[in-house]
Amino acid sequence: MIDDAPIKPSFSLISPDIYNYQDSKNQPLKLGIMASGNGSNFEVIAQAIAEGKINAKIQVLIYNNPDAKAAARAEKWGVEAILLNHRDCKNRKKFDSKVAQTLQQYDVEFVIMAGWMRLVTQVLIDAFPNRMINIHPSLLPSFKGVQAVEQAIAAKVKITGCSVHLVSLEVDSGEILIQAAVPVLPDDTSETLHARIQVQEHRILPMAISLLSQR
Ligand code: GAR
Repeated sequence: MIDDAPIKPSFSLISPDIYNYQDSKNQPLKLGIMASGNGSNFEVIAQAIAEGKINAKIQVLIYNNPDAKAAARAEKWGVEAILLNHRDCKNRKKFDSKVAQTLQQYDVEFVIMAGWMRLVTQVLIDAFPNRMINIHPSLLPSFKGVQAVEQAIAAKVKITGCSVHLVSLEVDSGEILIQAAVPVLPDDTSETLHARIQVQEHRILPMAISLLSQR
C-alpha cells in the first residue's frame, strides 16, 4: 500500500532567502493570488486563513479569464478580484507589467500562483524576487508545463503528485519547497487522478504558505 501522505514539512525545506525577506514580526503576510480557472486552491487558502491556520491576508485575486470561477469565490470571501485579460495586451511582458503594478497597488508582499495558466516573464519575477510560489500537479522535475496529469498517465508512472515551488523564468523549475505523492491507479483517467492530486494540493499549498508566513 502506497502512503500518499505528504512529506512532513520543516523549515529546512524553506530556503532562508525566502523567509528572511522582511523584518516585521507577527504581521499577517500580505498575499496576492493569481488564478485562471476554478480557484479551489484559492478557496483552501482563504479557508485556512479564516481558521487561523495561516497568518496572512489576501489583498487581491488577479484572474485572467473572464469566466474564471475563482472570481466568484473571491467575492464570497470578501476579497477584491481584478480581471486582467491577457488577450487585451500586446505581449507577455506588457501583460506581466500590468500584473506586477496591480499587485504592488494592493501592497502585496508575496504572490501565490494558484492555477495560473500563463507563462511568466522576468518582468514579474523581478517585481517579486523570491516572493512568488506556484502549485503544479506533478512531482517536479517530472511533467513540467501544460497537461501534467495527462503526461503522467501517458508515461505510465505509478506515482505522481504535486509540488509547491518558487517561480523562476524557466517553467516549473524553481526551488521545490514541498511535495506530496499520489499513486496512479490502473483505471485512472486524467479527471480521477487530478481529483486525487488536488486533495494533496489543498494540503501542501496552505502548508507552504503557513511556513512562509511564520518567517
Ligand atoms: C491545479 O491542479 C494546479 O496544480 C494546476 O491547475 C490547477 C488549478 O486548480 N496548475 C497548473 O497546471 C500550472 N502549471 P484550481 O483552479 O482548482 O485551484
